Parts: sequence; structure tokens; C-alpha cells
Amino acid sequence: MTNVAIIGCGKIANSHVQALAQMEDVRIAAVCDLNEVKCRQLAKKVGAEAYTSYEEMLESERLQLAIICLPPAFHGECARYCAGKGVNIFLEKPMGVDAADCRSIIDACKANGVMLWVGHMQRYSMENRIARELVESGEYGRLLAINEVRTCGYPGPNSPEWLMKREISGGGIMYNFGAHTLDMIKYISGSRVVLAESSVNFSSGDSENVAIGFLKLENGVSATFNLVGSCSVNRYEIVLYLTEGEIRIKPRRSIVACGRDGVFQKIADAEDAEASRDKNWQYLQLRDVIDSLKTGEAKVTGEYGLEIIENIESLYASAGRK
Ligand SMILES: NC(=O)c1ccc[n+]([C@@H]2O[C@H](COP(=O)([O-])OP(=O)(O)OC[C@H]3O[C@@H](n4cnc5c(N)ncnc54)[C@H](O)[C@@H]3O)[C@@H](O)[C@H]2O)c1
Repeated sequence: MTNVAIIGCGKIANSHVQALAQMEDVRIAAVCDLNEVKCRQLAKKVGAEAYTSYEEMLESERLQLAIICLPPAFHGECARYCAGKGVNIFLEKPMGVDAADCRSIIDACKANGVMLWVGHMQRYSMENRIARELVESGEYGRLLAINEVRTCGYPGPNSPEWLMKREISGGGIMYNFGAHTLDMIKYISGSRVVLAESSVNFSSGDSENVAIGFLKLENGVSATFNLVGSCSVNRYEIVLYLTEGEIRIKPRRSIVACGRDGVFQKIADAEDAEASRDKNWQYLQLRDVIDSLKTGEAKVTGEYGLEIIENIESLYASAGRK
């Protein structure tokens, strides 16, 4: 049995709890949140001990894994503390508030010999896994370019208060959603970013809610993204342009593709994902994390989380943000 603790009992913690509940070899031993009400509610739901201090929790519990679901500004302090206590860490994205913060987490984990995972989850979504397989198969020719368009209200009505406070979140839409965009582009293309440029608008405080970006990848693929957070219309689409066709993804909804004839065919949709349990990317991600505690091999490492933050810092630098 693997003893796990959840630190931070907010929105994402609840979806991790649902995933862990499907695993017979995992026990949620403890949960922690500064907010005692939220903490006790979650503890009662999962039958765990409740703590309002993770320091106290780590003194009292014998844990193999801490799942850190705090706002980004508190990731570093908490991860370093867990590492110091010899507890393996799954850390939500974005990894920290800047690259220096991320490096100090990696160093603490190395110094204490604990495993570190970062919650970049794009490789667990059904559409992205199929897209990567199609690209690798060459069925639609060679991948030339990727474009992501995500329009929404940012912050949304249910967003946490800290989302637009840069000292807590690390940045605006390009930091929070952009971390997913970069992960998706790297995963589907199987490549790394060598050039990153962007233009951002600060229409709300010091956190941008519009970001238009251009990326050049090591394998020659070009990628662009439009993250527009002051829209009344919600849209989330990824298009892959290939020499022999096109693949279109609507995350968590569908993936379609066409060849030279331009006629799009369904590859898979949300019903297929539901039928194959694939909809639950949280399950697949945490299953890999739990299994890796035995193998010692993390699929999404601290170094990967750092690389994404470095890419975002390059994007900010090109846009003139200090
Ligand atoms: N992978 C994804 O798709 C995804 C989705 C949502 C959020 N996230 C990430 O998960 C993290 C948490 O986001 P959220 O939306 O769940 O936030 P949230 O605000 O809903 O929850 C954070 C919780 O942490 C608690 N907290 C803050 N400081 C604390 C401390 N020192 N000790 C104990 N508890 C403390 C707060 O009381 C709150 O309940 C962020 O890094 C966010 O970017 C990832």
C-alpha cells in the first residue's frame, strides 16, 4: 500500500482524489490545507487525517508521496520541506514562480534522493496521444506546423483569487495555460523549443490575459498559439498541419483528420474516451506516478518542468516583461 498525502485541498486536489480512489494499492493517509473547513471536508470524504500545517503532517505521518496542489508561489517552500523529510513529490504545474525557484526544487530533491514529478498532463489526454501516434506513423505525411487557439474569460467566474496576482501565480494566461500549450506542442512534435517570441497584453494588473506566441522547434516544426482571455466566446482548438493532410483536436471532445481530399473523418471523440476510461487523464497520470515509485523513473521530471518555465521566461523576455 502506498501512503499518499494531498497538500492543498482546492480545485485540482479534488480531481486527483477521484483518480486515487480508483486505485486499490493507494491510501490517502492525510490531507492538508490552511483552510480548516476545506481540509476537514476532504479528510472526511476520503477517510484521511486532516492537518492545517504540512510541517506537522510530515512529522506525524509515514508517507511515500506528497501531491502538492498549492498555488505556484508556495510550491518551492513546500517541495523543499517534503524533500528534506525524504518524501517523494508530485508537484502541480506550473512548477514554480520562476526558473530559479524550479532549480532550487530540483536541487533539494537530488540532495535528499527523492523522486520529483511535475503535473504536465498533456501526454495523458486521449486526443494528444492519438495525435502523436498519427504524426509518428507518417499517415498524413510530415508535421509542418501546430497552432493552438484558446479563447475564454480569464480569469473565469470560478478561478481562484490568486490567479491574476503575479507574485502568487508566476504570471498570467501565458504562464498558466501556456504551460499546457508548451507541454502539448513538445509532446505531439517530440521536439524542443529553440526560439520563442510573444506579444502580451496586460489588461488586468501585472498578469497578462492575452498572449500571442511563436515557437520554432529543434526539428524544424513551427508552432503558434493565441491565448485570449478577454473573450465572451469559449474556443479551444489545436490544428496540426502536415504535408499530406490536417489533424484537428478539440481537447476533451474530439480529434478529426483529413488527407489530401480535405474531407475530415472522425478519429475519436469523448464517447470513445469515456468507454476506454481514457477521459480520466488524472487517473492515467497518477497511475504512472505511483508505479514509478517502484521503478524510480519519473516520466515528467523536474528538469522538464524547469524547461517549460525557461521557455515561458523567453516568451516574456521577447514581449518586454521583466
Ligand atoms: N493540471 C491542471 O490541469 C491544473 C488545473 C488546475 C490547477 N492546477 C494547478 O494546481 C495548483 C493549485 O490550483 P487550484 O486551482 O487547485 O487552486 P485552489 O486555490 O483551488 O487550491 C489551493 C489550496 O491551497 C491552499 N493553501 C494555500 N497555501 C497553503 C499552505 N501554505 N498550506 C496549506 N494549504 C495552502 C488554499 O487554502 C487552497 O485551498 C496550481 O499550481 C495550479 O496551477 C493544475
